Amino acid sequence: MSKVNEAALRKRISTASLLKMKEKGEKFSSLTAYDASFAKLFDEQGVQVLLVGDSLGNVIQGKDDTLGVTIEELAYHTRCVRAASQSALLVTDMPFMSYATPQQACENAATLMRAGAQMVKLEGGEWLCDTIKTLVERSVPVCAHIGLMPQSVHLMGGYKVQGKTVEDAERILREAKALEAAGAQLLVIECVSQKVAKAVTQALRIPVIGIGAGPDTDGQVLVMHDLFGISAGHIPKFSKNFLIETGDMQSAVSRFVTDVAEGRFPAAEHSFD
Ligand code: KIV
Repeated sequence: MSKVNEAALRKRISTASLLKMKEKGEKFSSLTAYDASFAKLFDEQGVQVLLVGDSLGNVIQGKDDTLGVTIEELAYHTRCVRAASQSALLVTDMPFMSYATPQQACENAATLMRAGAQMVKLEGGEWLCDTIKTLVERSVPVCAHIGLMPQSVHLMGGYKVQGKTVEDAERILREAKALEAAGAQLLVIECVSQKVAKAVTQALRIPVIGIGAGPDTDGQVLVMHDLFGISAGHIPKFSKNFLIETGDMQSAVSRFVTDVAEGRFPAAEHSFD
């Protein structure tokens, strides 16, 4: 390996770096990215985790859910993002039905890892544990995703805040622990009450990234179009248009990174009780 490549590898954020940040109580930020230009901008502004999300079905393809996104599309966008990011950890979503069995998960995760992903993200609870074990044993790092799971929107009956009853809150906590025990190295928790997210974050050793989950998670992720206030559809309560108060894209991203690091985002108006 050349010295240049060695230096680049040393600099890249790893799950170990995020774990150290959690241990020190330092908050980190994450944004979705789908192309090289934005990946470069986000990387340069110090965003620690880039997520090639299947939200590309909404914000790039203009659909009203993420279910139609394919593995080839995610691999394509992963190649674009990987080509331009130097230091962020690159996580790619596995699309709907691409991990219905452990065997399928391995084949499709391999496609994404070959495209440049450093970790794959899967939505689901305890049923996913065998799949996660299988992937991790085969050297595929996994980020699990619980709470509101957009791939299950039709089963869940819409995009609704999760964990509102005691029973549901306990189930979410149980799922989080099981997914960590199965080998997940990161966890995304979406649209849950602030209390549930706090309990999950405190109970897990691995870093927890929240979206619509209040201020107590270890990291925060936003869909990039929401941060710029340009999403085609509904802009969720938990997101914030950082462009309004900054005026240009670089400053908007930089403000997001510092507001997360310093605990100013998300504020009470972006969180659920
Ligand atoms: O697809 C996506 O962008 C996501 C984030 C909302 C976490 O999963």
